[in-house]
Amino acid sequence: MVERDVGLKEISKENFFETLKKFERPWGANYLAMYSSLWDGYTKDPDLMMIPADDHLAHRGDGVFDTMRCVNGCIYQLQRHLRRLERSANSIGIKLPLSTEELTGLVVEVTKKTGEKDCIIRVTVSRGPGGFSTNPYECFGPQLYINVIKYNPPPSYFYTKGVSLITSKYPQKDPLFANIKSCNYLLNVLMKKEALDNSADYSIGVDRDGYITEGSTENIIVFTKENELFFPPFDTVLTGTTAYRIKELAENLVSQSVLKEVSERKIHKDVVYEAKEVFLTGTSINIVPVSTYDGRKISDGMPGELFQRLRIMLENDMVNNKDLLTPVFD
Ligand SMILES: Cc1ncc(COP(=O)(O)O)c(C=O)c1O
Repeated sequence: MVERDVGLKEISKENFFETLKKFERPWGANYLAMYSSLWDGYTKDPDLMMIPADDHLAHRGDGVFDTMRCVNGCIYQLQRHLRRLERSANSIGIKLPLSTEELTGLVVEVTKKTGEKDCIIRVTVSRGPGGFSTNPYECFGPQLYINVIKYNPPPSYFYTKGVSLITSKYPQKDPLFANIKSCNYLLNVLMKKEALDNSADYSIGVDRDGYITEGSTENIIVFTKENELFFPPFDTVLTGTTAYRIKELAENLVSQSVLKEVSERKIHKDVVYEAKEVFLTGTSINIVPVSTYDGRKISDGMPGELFQRLRIMLENDMVNNKDLLTPVFD
């Protein structure tokens, strides 16, 4: 709640910081650093981590972002995240303000300043400040914001018992929009809200024809009783870096005859109810097993063998696959 003093106080450069101090922001303790191209510098002070109100990102959601993770001092799949960021930006007519090489260097430098080996890095490219209309041409140029945040792992029951999943009631994004990781995440926010409001961990989108799409910020993978591993086609949902990597890793299990098939295909909701195992994947959760879907148990409702196998493969990849690791510290 905002406590109002009597009368409306005028804020100036002189009283701004003193006023900010009165407003406690305990969550700011997780914020390690922010870079802004408007300063061409970084800050470790959460009070200063601001984006101008007239950046079209703030009032229209006109911008794109990507979120990656630093694990034990190395950023996992950084290049894949930056490529996705560039694709998202290009899709809405924004040219990244830096080359991929420069951006890599900057992300590493800002992360290094925090001294934190396990953190989340959010890279945001906005349309830029310039007015309050929807017209992107009134902005003076795209801006870059990088936020480094402490990594707080999900609760342990996610991995030991599995998570509950429900069907979302919200209409899903058209494939064009699903593959742009834009700052317009209202649908994603509402999907998370509806899960929590219904005492579930996650909700999953279903398209008009009954095929599953994705979660608020997660991809879904379905393992059938026939030993097939299915991913909703990546041109219809966001190409998750985690799901995509798991698909690559799982392909090895076909040659070992653990899996019959690994493929992208439309998955009807009814196939999920009957699945042997179901997983959600994402940068901050890695891979988690789904124990119930719409209140129905998936198999016996406990994490299965394939989950354990894929989890180990992914975790191993995250610390040992030099091709996908960008070291932050010397
Ligand atoms: C809509 C959506 N789907 C899937 C994902 C998972 O992608 P990744 O594995 O790259 O984190 C995200 C990530 O935030 C997302 O926002």
